[in-house]
Amino acid sequence: KFEKIWLTFGVAMLLVFLTVIGVSAFYLGNKPPSCLATIDPEKVDTQAPFNEPGLKKVEGKEWDYELVYVASAFAYQPGEVEVPFGAKVKVIATTKDVIHGFQVAGTNINMMLEPGYISEHIATFDKTGEYLVLCNEYCGVGHHMMMSKIKVV
Ligand code: CUA
Repeated sequence: KFEKIWLTFGVAMLLVFLTVIGVSAFYLGNKPPSCLATIDPEKVDTQAPFNEPGLKKVEGKEWDYELVYVASAFAYQPGEVEVPFGAKVKVIATTKDVIHGFQVAGTNINMMLEPGYISEHIATFDKTGEYLVLCNEYCGVGHHMMMSKIKVV
């Protein structure tokens, strides 16, 4: 008799968990919080700011520079960039094809780049040196070769 009760209890819990997962995934649309704006992945090259990847000085904003990246298998554009020491930079990135990662080693910049979405992160580079931008989402055979460099000078 007790077995039956426990079996029922077990199945009920399983259903509860599945419902919670289902609701959070589909109803709430479980997306990374860094992805706010959307973009057509096929038009990335022609749309601002992604038509001009790289560092740009901006005026009248909370940040001093915007650093724009376009990721595609298996590289980032730009491949290397120089950032002035102490600059407050808004990193803006997207991907043209599959999901890529965007992690800057030694900093707390760690984003997921999803096709169709724009990922952003504001950071202050207050340490000089070279930082590697790495892909931390497996994206195919060239995954391990995906990198870019940020030089803080
Ligand atoms: Cu791109 Cu892994």
